[in-house]
Amino acid sequence: MMSRSIVSRAAAAAVRAPVGARAASMNLGPTDAQAAALDALKPGKFGHVATNPRDSGADPAKCPSLAANEYLLYSARHESNARTYVRRFPFAIKSAKGCKLTDTDGKEYYDCKNVAGTLALGHNHDIVIDAAKKFLDSGAPIQSLDMATPEKKAYMETLFSVLPQELSKLHFCSPAGTDVLDAAVKLCKYATGRRTVMAFHGGYHGHGAGPLAMMGNLGAKEALTGLMSDVHFLPYPYAYRNPFGVDGEEGEKTVMKYIETIFADAESGIPKPACVVVEAIQGEGGVGALSPTALRELRRITAEHDVPLVVDEVQAGFCRSGDFWAFQNNGSGIVPDVVCMSKAAGGSMPLAVMAYKPELDAWSAGAHTGTFRGNQIAFACGKAQTDYLRDNKMHERAAEKGARLMGHLRDIMAESSTIVDVRGRGLMLGVEFGLADEVDHLGLPKPDGEMAGEVQKLALRNGMIQERGGRGGSVMRFLCPLIVEDEDIDAMADIFRTAVKQAEVGLGRV
Ligand SMILES: Cc1ncc(COP(=O)(O)O)c(C=O)c1O
Repeated sequence: MMSRSIVSRAAAAAVRAPVGARAASMNLGPTDAQAAALDALKPGKFGHVATNPRDSGADPAKCPSLAANEYLLYSARHESNARTYVRRFPFAIKSAKGCKLTDTDGKEYYDCKNVAGTLALGHNHDIVIDAAKKFLDSGAPIQSLDMATPEKKAYMETLFSVLPQELSKLHFCSPAGTDVLDAAVKLCKYATGRRTVMAFHGGYHGHGAGPLAMMGNLGAKEALTGLMSDVHFLPYPYAYRNPFGVDGEEGEKTVMKYIETIFADAESGIPKPACVVVEAIQGEGGVGALSPTALRELRRITAEHDVPLVVDEVQAGFCRSGDFWAFQNNGSGIVPDVVCMSKAAGGSMPLAVMAYKPELDAWSAGAHTGTFRGNQIAFACGKAQTDYLRDNKMHERAAEKGARLMGHLRDIMAESSTIVDVRGRGLMLGVEFGLADEVDHLGLPKPDGEMAGEVQKLALRNGMIQERGGRGGSVMRFLCPLIVEDEDIDAMADIFRTAVKQAEVGLGRV
């Protein structure tokens, strides 16, 4: 095993490369005090935290990043031990615009995380702000349960304009992604009278008890009992780590054949499910994606066995993937039975909704209620944003800007000793790190979450926040807003390249 010493300041400085012109003109990265605090942080299971993440003690003496910032200290003292990003990104946000954040010390950061892929047009886009202001001045009610309003009708009409026409029914849910996944499963159970559900290895659908049961990652669920029962997991055709150890198209075919066998074999042990729930691109799972062929196969198999196909577009939808919907993947031609939407659905405001085929509409009045299903500001902002995405063909922009970023990431991979794969579509890209000297059960480099964690920390230190995902947190993720400009992409790639080099030196992975 190689040396695992944490990057030293000297090593970091030695490989620090100048970033793009625009970045250089920004007041980029943490203050000296925060940078020193970051340097002192050690990688932890839940990101870089100085204290044990299960220990809610908020002692600034033990955790230097807290001492550097009164807002972090207050959060550590009074917020739940389950808090997440406030630990990982130890600064407090004061303002935000486009793909940049400014903290309370006036320092700036590129936001490559983008509220976990929520802000299609970045922070505080004029289209969204104008729609919100106009709504607030209108005298219309801000909340209305699921009662009829002009704003809701206008939103629904806009949503229908971007959905396949077969999906002619909408159900608004409580406003988080996890709620819409719960609703979709319930709808399919009512419609089919069946009890089992099929989800995928690496899948992520939120933290409610139903969606958590459908989560591939064990970390968040292994300590819990009483999650939704009767969930069965299918292998996902993750190209880099094909679950059958078969590369390329043949690997994908093998996965799809196995899935078909589960449906076709009367002794597979799994009763016919109420639905199959899938992400066309797995976000949190590490940016594996279904090819057009795999999507068509999954649609064929589920249709032939009369099983509703639920596609979770919560993260990949609304143009991020390079198509308006990720299930459309380069003309796949498939139409799911249910499409789940949240995140970008409300134009930066909380909103969750599912679209489905009318033949599934077998539940009765009140079968899935919730107080906050009528957020009218979200309808107004969501309509304005969705109109903008559609009219400006923002999926094409995502594909074009994503290709530029992908080019940089491939170059960085060629220079790196630790990157084993770059993948994704549109502006939903991932870089996987692997250990050169340890292999997994498939004979591939073991996922290197420590390296990804160090890159995440160093990217932050150099002025960019980024999400991690994948097996063992080994995938660094790029979720830029669709309005990102070339010069921002170049600057973000520079920051990432520098962080990778620094981490490779610091962790002795060169
Ligand atoms: C694909 C997918 N589904 C569902 C969810 C859950 O959404 P929320 O966090 O709003 O509950 C997420 C969140 O990241 C997601 O990526």
